[in-house]
Amino acid sequence: MPEIMDGKKLAEEIKAEVRKDVMLLNERGFAVGLAVVLVGDNLASEQYFLAILRSCKAVGITAYKHKFPDSVTINELLNVIHSLNSDERINGILVLLPLPKRINPRRAINSITPEKDVDGLGAISVGRLAAEESTFQLFREEYREAIEECKFMPSLSSFIPCTPFGVIRLLEFYGVELKGKHAVVISKSLAVGKPLSTMLLVKEATVTVCHRETKNLPVITKQADILCTATGQQGLIKGDMVKDGVIIVDIGIKVLPDGRIVGDVDFDSVKDKASLVTPVPGGVGPVTIAMLLENTVKSARRSKFLKSPLMM
Ligand SMILES: NC(=O)c1ccc[n+]([C@@H]2O[C@H](COP(=O)([O-])OP(=O)(O)OC[C@H]3O[C@@H](n4cnc5c(N)ncnc54)[C@H](OP(=O)(O)O)[C@@H]3O)[C@@H](O)[C@H]2O)c1
Repeated sequence: MPEIMDGKKLAEEIKAEVRKDVMLLNERGFAVGLAVVLVGDNLASEQYFLAILRSCKAVGITAYKHKFPDSVTINELLNVIHSLNSDERINGILVLLPLPKRINPRRAINSITPEKDVDGLGAISVGRLAAEESTFQLFREEYREAIEECKFMPSLSSFIPCTPFGVIRLLEFYGVELKGKHAVVISKSLAVGKPLSTMLLVKEATVTVCHRETKNLPVITKQADILCTATGQQGLIKGDMVKDGVIIVDIGIKVLPDGRIVGDVDFDSVKDKASLVTPVPGGVGPVTIAMLLENTVKSARRSKFLKSPLMM
């Protein structure tokens, strides 16, 4: 049986640190706030929002819910995001996807100011990640040094996307060395596959990215030392597609008609081959939320610094 990578355990550790940081800020008179923008009645988004709300409460962050009917216009959404950008109570803004088809999600996400783009999906944040200006956050010691040495560099105000950042943290938590390993990522999405492959490259893994048009997927997945999959296709990864000892990170989430949540990996058929594997649920999901809270409190610390007497 493989060792199970328990995302809840890591998430609790991250949240305990976030809670300490929130308390320190509170003692100095600063509250920490996260705004979540929800459109329509998407059940998965509602469930995600409730999970965020519970976690915010546990660490002392105030969550502000901005819910709109499916009929909302892009203009109404942009107006709300602009007002949240200048709202001093808000340190992070998250627009839950999907938005109704007639609304271009990039317009909504790009209207979040980079300083509050705690999910790291706006064009500025994506660009800074690609240019390796914000990847120092993947190295915690370097992050501290960067804070000390160049407080005013704009890249310090950019965040890296929560889900792939959470994957890296989970692998590190379980002592997985990334340098020199062959990491195969199944997804080229903006939210998961692309930033995850960039982060794995920064960590000096050799990275192969696969997608729907990839030919002979099993030939590639069989070469993976570390296999990360984020397609939402139940049972895509089976035991005969992986090699012995593989480390599998299942990021996919699919809600079945009976309410059960499953990932991309057929756990029963990989369990005799994998050395480490994430469960679904309870793997990457809880860590994603913890990273969102960590990014929000980082944003609050930075804005507190900007409001300090030093800056007046
Ligand atoms: N655990 C978490 O915290 C978390 C966070 C975010 C997302 N997710 C889950 O991750 C999944 C992906 O989310 P997303 O927003 O990135 O979705 P997305 O934008 O639809 O991307 C899915 C990616 O998977 C690829 N893909 C789909 N079917 C495939 C197949 N049969 N073979 C190979 N590649 C395939 C797609 O390829 P093409 O580009 O060629 O279409 C695409 O690159 C969803 O299940 C979502 O719920 C989980």
